[in-house]
Amino acid sequence: MMQQRTDWTSKQRKALEEAISTYKGQPGALIPVLQKAQEIFGYLPREVMGRIASDLGIPPARVFGVATFYAQFSFTPRGRHTVLSCQGTACHVRGGGKILEEMMRHLQVEEGGTTADGRFTLEKVYCIGCCSLAPALIIDETAYGKLTPEKVKEILDQYE
Ligand code: FES
Repeated sequence: MMQQRTDWTSKQRKALEEAISTYKGQPGALIPVLQKAQEIFGYLPREVMGRIASDLGIPPARVFGVATFYAQFSFTPRGRHTVLSCQGTACHVRGGGKILEEMMRHLQVEEGGTTADGRFTLEKVYCIGCCSLAPALIIDETAYGKLTPEKVKEILDQYE
């Protein structure tokens, strides 16, 4: 019997049950259910994949195999927002490194990590296509440029 985590919220549990019942019995149900689960939990916890496997009647090994095949799925917790800190050449020469350091200090997170409050996942990228605005970063879909350490803190604080 699959052990169920007790720290899922009832809202998450209900949303997962709804997703499973929407797709159950349809051919190709697994991928949309996994996508939904990732939307609900922010990543695919092992226990969630186990629950999906038993509810859809698919062997757990197959669920894990399919999930690991697709790059869109993540197995570690991600923040509600993704910050892409540009460290491409233009941003680097204009202080992109300091911006990244300031964010790591302000958010108390390492590069590649997720904040303890689940707000942000901080990642490094190389050129986001707005070099004239260097140093720049992207949060979710929004680009911010001509950053300073002060400005970046104000921007981060706007996100819940
Ligand atoms: S190097 Fe940062 S936007 Fe191009």
